[in-house]
Amino acid sequence: MQEDIDARVQAYYGSEFDEQRRLERPAGRLEMARVRELVAPLLAPHSTIVDIGGGTGVHAQWLAEAGHHVTVVDPVARHVEIAAQIPGVEATMGDARSLMLESNSCDAALLFGPLYHLESRASRVQALREAARVVRPGGTVFGAVIPRWAVYTDSTTTLADGASVPDEIHHILDTGESHPQAHFPGAHFHTSTELAAEMEEADLEVVQLAAIEGPGGLPLEFVAQADDSTIDAALTLVRAIGHLEGPREMSPHLMGIGRRR
Ligand SMILES: C[S@@+](CC[C@H](N)C(=O)[O-])C[C@H]1O[C@@H](n2cnc3c(N)ncnc32)[C@H](O)[C@@H]1O
Repeated sequence: MQEDIDARVQAYYGSEFDEQRRLERPAGRLEMARVRELVAPLLAPHSTIVDIGGGTGVHAQWLAEAGHHVTVVDPVARHVEIAAQIPGVEATMGDARSLMLESNSCDAALLFGPLYHLESRASRVQALREAARVVRPGGTVFGAVIPRWAVYTDSTTTLADGASVPDEIHHILDTGESHPQAHFPGAHFHTSTELAAEMEEADLEVVQLAAIEGPGGLPLEFVAQADDSTIDAALTLVRAIGHLEGPREMSPHLMGIGRRR
């Protein structure tokens, strides 16, 4: 149930997991670099941006430094407190399903988190509709999801010798739904087709579906350190093939970019 997932989101990000340091790891450095190169070119100077599920403000920070006006909305108090300390960033408690923001008040919305923490299709479309409502007509909504096939790779390090693929993995592959006992409070793992349909239903024209990290992100998830040239190699790879359907389904994260009609 979504109430259980919301409670697990609070516990996970409130005390168990240090979200602020997530993007310092090798896969996170790749994620950060790629998000920046997908998002930045589509923003006009001095844009007004809402970062929904913006966590501790990792993206709000570089956006504010680039001269944009950024508001972070997040349900976790610890995240909001950290984000509010970033110069030029406003931060407020809130939920992607019901934003306390005026319609047409932003040029762009980031939705990097809520779509994989919301269980039902209706609530994900609701979150996308809310993002679309607060951006002006022609404004851009950037949404991140976790592709369902990439989840499979977790088994590479956890399957015992000779064991078969666990039932919960089959369940995710068949339905996109997470296992209720999984440590990460992920609620839904998308295919890119599914993400596109949810965006369309929220009245967003799909402009682009692109792998964030691409297949090179998967090996980087399993190493503690990587030099800059390795991150650059993964970036080169994802720039070349991250728009193709097969590779983008094997990326740790996938971004849908939509324009409000
Ligand atoms: C993995 S973090 C991502 C943080 C940041 N946006 C990034 O891209 O690095 C997921 C974020 O989604 C937030 N979140 C979870 N459920 C949400 C909801 N229903 N509405 C808004 N944010 C939510 C969490 O609190 C957390 O900050």
